Amino acid sequence: MKEISIYAGTFDPISHGHLNIIERAARLFDQVIVAIAKNPSKQPLFSLEERVSLVEQSCAHLTNVQAVGFSGLLADFAKQHQAKTLIRGIRGSDDVEYEIQLAQLNNQLAGELETIFFPPSVTWRYLSSTMIREIYKHHGDIAPFVPEVVMQALVNKEKL
Ligand code: COA
Repeated sequence: MKEISIYAGTFDPISHGHLNIIERAARLFDQVIVAIAKNPSKQPLFSLEERVSLVEQSCAHLTNVQAVGFSGLLADFAKQHQAKTLIRGIRGSDDVEYEIQLAQLNNQLAGELETIFFPPSVTWRYLSSTMIREIYKHHGDIAPFVPEVVMQALVNKEKL
């Protein structure tokens, strides 16, 4: 049976930090589903459709990676897709407590669902999507932090 793993997040927008984790996960699992949460509470800059498309384009070189939007519980989404593992990035000690809580909850909600934690690559350790949006809002250069397709999408947004 294929080992399917899910990497969930808001991805508003996808960054090189996310992509680094996706590429490493794609080497370990038969299939990786990048699950993009609708997450209206975060008032995303990009719509769900845009975020799915940006993840798809950024992962085009990875044949076993698929981008799928979702709303509702991640545990239910994992069950629907017969995934046995969730992937989460832990960037430092600040992330640990919350991530353990989330992993335990997801395991209770969907029995046998395990969470695997990935340390960040040194380069992207301090990155977050909020920081990227903040730099962009103040006209700073975000090119080093995001895939080229995200830069293009932002340029297109400015033209609207
Ligand atoms: N590189 C760069 N940034 C990273 C990163 C990495 N390796 N790892 C995490 N981040 C950033 C994210 O971009 C995000 O930034 P932001 O807050 O500025 O947007 C931040 O760190 C937090 O990431 P994360 O914890 O993944 O939050 P998220 O909002 O992206 O995703 C869900 C959280 C979607 C996984 C979670 O809310 C969820 O499962 N929701 C569904 C409902 C549910 O089942 N809840 C749990 C049961 S109660």
